[in-house]
Amino acid sequence: MTAIPDQKKMTPTALDVDRLRQDFPILAQKINGHRLAFLDSAASSQRPQCVIDAVRHYYERDHANVHRGVHTLSHRATEAYEGAREKVRQFINAASTREIVFTRGTTDSINLLAASFGQDIEAGDEIVISHLEHHSNIVPWQMLCERTGAVLRVVPINDRGEIRMDEYLSLLGPRTRLVAISHVSNALGTINPVEQIIAAAREHSIPVLLDGAQAVPHQRVDVTALDCDFYAFSGHKMCGPTGIGVFYAKEEWLERLPPYQGGGDMILTVSFAGTTYNDLPYKFEAGTPNIAGAIGLGAAVDYLLDIGMDEIQAHESAILDYATNAVGGIDGIQLVGTAEHKAGVLSFNLDGVHPHDLGTILDHHGVAIRTGHHCAMPVMEFFGIAGTARASLAFYNCREDIDQLIEGLHLAIRMFN
Ligand code: ALA
Repeated sequence: MTAIPDQKKMTPTALDVDRLRQDFPILAQKINGHRLAFLDSAASSQRPQCVIDAVRHYYERDHANVHRGVHTLSHRATEAYEGAREKVRQFINAASTREIVFTRGTTDSINLLAASFGQDIEAGDEIVISHLEHHSNIVPWQMLCERTGAVLRVVPINDRGEIRMDEYLSLLGPRTRLVAISHVSNALGTINPVEQIIAAAREHSIPVLLDGAQAVPHQRVDVTALDCDFYAFSGHKMCGPTGIGVFYAKEEWLERLPPYQGGGDMILTVSFAGTTYNDLPYKFEAGTPNIAGAIGLGAAVDYLLDIGMDEIQAHESAILDYATNAVGGIDGIQLVGTAEHKAGVLSFNLDGVHPHDLGTILDHHGVAIRTGHHCAMPVMEFFGIAGTARASLAFYNCREDIDQLIEGLHLAIRMFN
């Protein structure tokens, strides 16, 4: 049995986590008689009071439909909704709000691209993904391949859970129409070398989609510097509401791509002779959007930027190192995913204990983790396991959360011995 590392020896971080935790009312409660150690932010993060207040304020004072009314409430709602779009633009440093499409989340964003881009895909064309992907960056492409006769090419990974770049480079060819890769793996936390991935695709003029769901909560993301064509992420993993997400695409792509869904707000004129589509980004936002969700996401962006993405990254990295050393040092624990560059995720298994049983025991100790395949079954298949226990971090996590996890793990070991 390995002792909990000496906290005095750990690098202190710049964030005042005790103060930040007070912004999250949900963290103050007890679960099963214990302090809550919430280590499941990769599934969905918690929301600070300012996000809850922004949504509440909108419903209490400003709600009306957007882009439609001449009355005051509709103006206010439109201003708040479009204001949120500008905040998101700044957050990822897109060139224009015309490039920011609000969607339901990452899955919706990727399906949008698969449906829209897919209209130009032919039998024999190739889509390149990696073995690390979440189901939401696999299944839409499989469906597209089934529809069109295109071929899905999968970049293998190594035993550490890293993309094999040599294999990636060899898969790029004249039939490759798109590279779709996660920025950060949800199951293992691997940060993929997206700069190199994009640069190699550029040499073949192949567009790149990055699934950024697990990246934007943890680090500064600059789509202009990355020079990616498409970037998808969700609000609920970055302290915003559920049901809101972002599809970023370079303006030239959004001009070229056909709309994803038809309906109100995405048109300029409709007659039975034909329809003309609205300007960007509205061409891709059919129907009444998730106005409250966008406003909440805007508040989350303000909140994160106020803390500082670099500070968040540094803090989480220190907590992840602490957790990796402490959990990895326990007899009987196998870490799954040991990439050199990781963000926010510690996946592991305990000998002889099913991850679901481990998750249940930890819950009794107030520790919330996710167990299972994490919507990344091919990753589990690669490692020859049914699933893992996954502790995932946000900036509001502290060493006390990790210590509580370790106590829970020792409890489980005693129970199963
Ligand atoms: N994609 C989410 C996760 O990794 C739900 O848990």
